[in-house]
Amino acid sequence: MLKDRINDLLGQVKDLQAANAEELEALRIKYLSKKGEITSLFNEFRDVPAEQKRELGQLLNQLRQEAEGRINELRESMANANANAEKLDLTRTPDPIALGTRHPLSLVREEIEDIFSRIGFTIAQGPEVEDDKHVYGMLNFAPEHPARDMQDTFFIEKEIGVQKPTDVLLRSHTSSVQTRVMTSQKPPIRVLCPGRVYRNEAISARAHCFFHQVEGLYIDKNVSFADLREALLYFSKEMFGADTKIRLRPSYFPFTEPSAEMDISCNICGGKGCSFCKGTGWVEILGCGMVDPNVLEACGIDSKVYSGYAFGMGVERITNLKYRVKDLRLFSENDVRFLRQFESC
Ligand code: PHE
Repeated sequence: MLKDRINDLLGQVKDLQAANAEELEALRIKYLSKKGEITSLFNEFRDVPAEQKRELGQLLNQLRQEAEGRINELRESMANANANAEKLDLTRTPDPIALGTRHPLSLVREEIEDIFSRIGFTIAQGPEVEDDKHVYGMLNFAPEHPARDMQDTFFIEKEIGVQKPTDVLLRSHTSSVQTRVMTSQKPPIRVLCPGRVYRNEAISARAHCFFHQVEGLYIDKNVSFADLREALLYFSKEMFGADTKIRLRPSYFPFTEPSAEMDISCNICGGKGCSFCKGTGWVEILGCGMVDPNVLEACGIDSKVYSGYAFGMGVERITNLKYRVKDLRLFSENDVRFLRQFESC
């Protein structure tokens, strides 16, 4: 039946698709050319009985209109797509992408890690949220030691809003990573512990509530203070130049005995005395000492067989000396005018 075939084609032409000009032309030929399907229906229409002419004639006209409409629509959308494609100049060089810069603290931390890795240190990491045992208890801090005071340490309340005694805290030094290594590994141990630490200080140019440390620990048979001094002298010369001198001054830390603080000859005035070193020619850069036997024992290491040294330094302090960054706040403000100055480093 002619009517069925017209309806059939009506259904087809509604969603004709063409991917390019050739396909579109093929559709035109298939339906609308002299030998096309719709044209041949018009030829058959001549033989239709008079009483059906009106109905089928309308239907056939509708079919031709819809087919032409759809093909024109496809032609237009193809022309628009081509016009847009022409606007894209694919040969143009792209705008330069603004590259980020390395953060000065990362640069310095990596340099410290690199120097110590050359004498056999590997990197160890641990959690920033710690417990009292790893930060203080096993490190020979007496129970009432003032470092545990709320002024220095951020304690974490177990139940929000309920102030209760708690032993969950933010580590105040990365010596906590050393206790974790000592309790999980057997000597010889030679690790570097870089990481962020927290202390409850008011934020100013000279203090911040968090900063970064690199601590080191070496435990083996017959490790001596002379070994410690040699390692630190090597580090200082690599970091600040071959002329750098060091001096060790007696000090106190609960976890080392004997303990010392180390100064390097001021790398700004070369040791002559300037405002940076307050005229002394020396600047302090780290704390160190021989691991206290109590700490070794608390961590399950036989202090009659093994000895060890430890040291700890602030990455901000070393960065200050290397790059003269005087205000600690600059390190955490993410001001691109500051960060961009390290572009070429
Ligand atoms: N843990 C000490 C601090 O945070 C630094 C240190 C490490 C001192 C190891 C001696 C030995 O200040």
